[in-house]
Amino acid sequence: MEQKTSKVVVSALLAGAFGAVACHASRTCRYLPGDAGWPSQAAWHQLNNTVGGRLIAGTPLGRPCFEPDLNAAECAAIKAEWTDLHPFIADPVNVMSPYWMNNSCDPFYGPSGTCKLGSLAVYAINVTNAQDAVAGVRFASANNIRLTIKNTGHDYLGRSSGAGSLALWTHNLKDITFLDYRSADYTGPAARLGAGVEGTDLGPVAAAHGYRVLGGSCPTVGVAGGFTQGGGHSPLSAKYGLGADQVLEWEVVTADGVHTTASASQNPALYWALRGGGAGNYAVVLSMTVKAHPDGPAAGAGFLIVNDDDDKFWAAVAAWLKHLLVLDTLDGYMTAFTITALDFALDFALLPDAASVDDITAPLAPFFAELDELKVTLAQSRASVSANYADWYETWAAPITYSTNNSIGGRLISRSAVQDRLPALVAVFRDIAEYSAAEVGGSALKGLAFNVTSARVGSAALPGADAVLPAWRDALFTLNFLIPLAEDADWETINSGQAWINDKQDELRAVTPGGGTYMNQATWDNPNWKEDYFGSNYKALFAIKAAYDPEDLFWADAAVGSDVAWVRAADGRLCRPEANT
Ligand SMILES: Cc1cc2nc3c(=O)[nH]c(=O)nc-3n(C[C@H](O)[C@H](O)[C@H](O)COP(=O)(O)OP(=O)(O)OC[C@H]3O[C@@H](n4cnc5c(N)ncnc54)[C@H](O)[C@@H]3O)c2cc1C
Ligand SMILES: *[C@@H]1O[C@H](CO)[C@@H](O)[C@H](O)[C@H]1NC(C)=O
Ligand SMILES: *[C@@H]1O[C@H](CO)[C@@H](O)[C@H](O)[C@H]1NC(C)=O
Ligand SMILES: *[C@@H]1O[C@H](CO)[C@@H](O)[C@H](O)[C@H]1NC(C)=O
Ligand SMILES: *[C@@H]1O[C@H](CO)[C@@H](O)[C@H](O)[C@H]1NC(C)=O
Ligand SMILES: *[C@@H]1O[C@H](CO)[C@@H](O)[C@H](O)[C@H]1NC(C)=O
Repeated sequence: MEQKTSKVVVSALLAGAFGAVACHASRTCRYLPGDAGWPSQAAWHQLNNTVGGRLIAGTPLGRPCFEPDLNAAECAAIKAEWTDLHPFIADPVNVMSPYWMNNSCDPFYGPSGTCKLGSLAVYAINVTNAQDAVAGVRFASANNIRLTIKNTGHDYLGRSSGAGSLALWTHNLKDITFLDYRSADYTGPAARLGAGVEGTDLGPVAAAHGYRVLGGSCPTVGVAGGFTQGGGHSPLSAKYGLGADQVLEWEVVTADGVHTTASASQNPALYWALRGGGAGNYAVVLSMTVKAHPDGPAAGAGFLIVNDDDDKFWAAVAAWLKHLLVLDTLDGYMTAFTITALDFALDFALLPDAASVDDITAPLAPFFAELDELKVTLAQSRASVSANYADWYETWAAPITYSTNNSIGGRLISRSAVQDRLPALVAVFRDIAEYSAAEVGGSALKGLAFNVTSARVGSAALPGADAVLPAWRDALFTLNFLIPLAEDADWETINSGQAWINDKQDELRAVTPGGGTYMNQATWDNPNWKEDYFGSNYKALFAIKAAYDPEDLFWADAAVGSDVAWVRAADGRLCRPEANT
């Protein structure tokens, strides 16, 4: 029913889409600070009054390390935290990605270097209610300046920052409410999450209400931000599907400054696009309502294999990838593993509602038997049962540490690639794992395996039911790989690392033909981004983008419609493409 409604609206919208893009009359650009057209102090003051004094001037975190703002204690503090996620999460404009921070105010370059905003927003509104978001949308539109939306700043594609922009900072929208939801498609428990809620905010509250609600493996990713809007993989995905599959409705502010709802019955095309069609590109999200699932015990397991012989080690990795085809058939069984040149770790397996340790370890026994045949020994192995999902998370997922000092690439690895091209696939993995840069160490490949087919997770995963890239449903696991960067890596190093990652993504594409990539853990400058990140959904998403944001207020690299909307110049300025002048 819901699916039918969406399809009708989408095709009706398609008809009008291309006209909207073709009508940019003259070559115009967004204003940057210093331009005559940049809003006056009085205009900013007026905006600040409208948002209750919650307008904040963007400030680089590294500023205390530079003249004339030098402050030794503050500088030491930010240097010590520079690879931590937390200072970036708590800041209105600074983001984690070294690529997008681009050393514009890197504390390790002080005190004589330069400290500029670079790609960071010039002002941010500390959004606390719908009126704040409406005011920001209207101000950016009326004044021809770029608008960005920043939540936690995890984004690898640079989508939560933007030179010369006004940012809507949604981090403080932390409300969590549990309710009984009733609609034509779903009747049952649900959770309404403010746009700033992180996994770490959600877990314990959900448990206290007797529910599980999906968030990322990483506790600090924003649930209603890039995670759900881009797809969203969770340890719980093998049981309930992707983050986007959970959404019942969105509370939004649209590009025309209207506060409204997107659901199966209201703005169904927008509801569809926001569920997997890419972050920050269709509307500002204030909250979302998602399914809540009854809680219960959960089993976990993990192991470590150390590489003391390359041939045996990579044979063990190949055996693991093949064994994933078996684990794929077990309801709810999820695994997260890390492969480096030195070792291979099952960081965690999750089996929700398992009664005993044996439930989670027995399915691993055939793999362990294969290790015996290969004469590979386990350096560590453990398993446990937790009383509920939040406890499982604290035991298994929360202790994993994350840092900002890296660049990322990725690819969804299809079941057919493992079935039919395993040696070629393992050869690319090995090639990636053997990346090593002087003094900063090697790369890491991270696999997250879950069956998110509709046979497993229900009708939300049927083709076209939401805007999740269809290749997710054929994937045995999603792979992302990280290369380390020194805290003071220069632009040339960062940029050449990015190029290396793009090459490896091409090699992975060659062994997974017709597949795709999880856009949230990949490169912004992948030339195949439309196909890889959106697949067959691109055209329908383009039509919805044109209908809901005809002036391209929301813009990001590798976002639907971005290439025909604006071109980012060397100074970060957005200008209409030549073709549209
Ligand atoms: C250390 C680390 C671990 C990760 N682990 C996982 C994981 O386990 N599972 C997974 O699926 N992904 C994971 N990711 C990827 C993650 O999903 C993306 O980085 C995602 O974009 C983060 O969204 P955010 O809202 O937290 O961050 P931000 O960088 O603040 O925002 C990301 C995007 O969402 C948009 N956005 C944010 N808030 C809103 C809003 N209210 N309305 C409209 N648009 C909005 C922004 O404009 C931007 O385009 C991880 C990333 C990192 C860095
Ligand atoms: C906005 O107003 C508040 C309260 O008056 C003030 O503290 C803040 O500095 C102002 N913001 C800007 C960017 O001027
Ligand atoms: C980073 O800075 C360099 C110059 O130092 C510039 O060439 C490059 O375009 C910048 N990259 C981004 C993403 O802004
Ligand atoms: C943002 O607003 C919230 C209240 O809505 C307030 O608690 C918080 O201190 C503000 N943050 C900043 C950095 O101004
Ligand atoms: C990256 O940061 C982590 C955590 O702070 C640290 O252990 C690691 O050595 C850093 N890597 C590089 C290459 O600096
Ligand atoms: C996924 O899960 C379903 C339901 O448990 C199962 O029937 C199917 O074989 C699994 N794998 C694939 C490829 O669909």
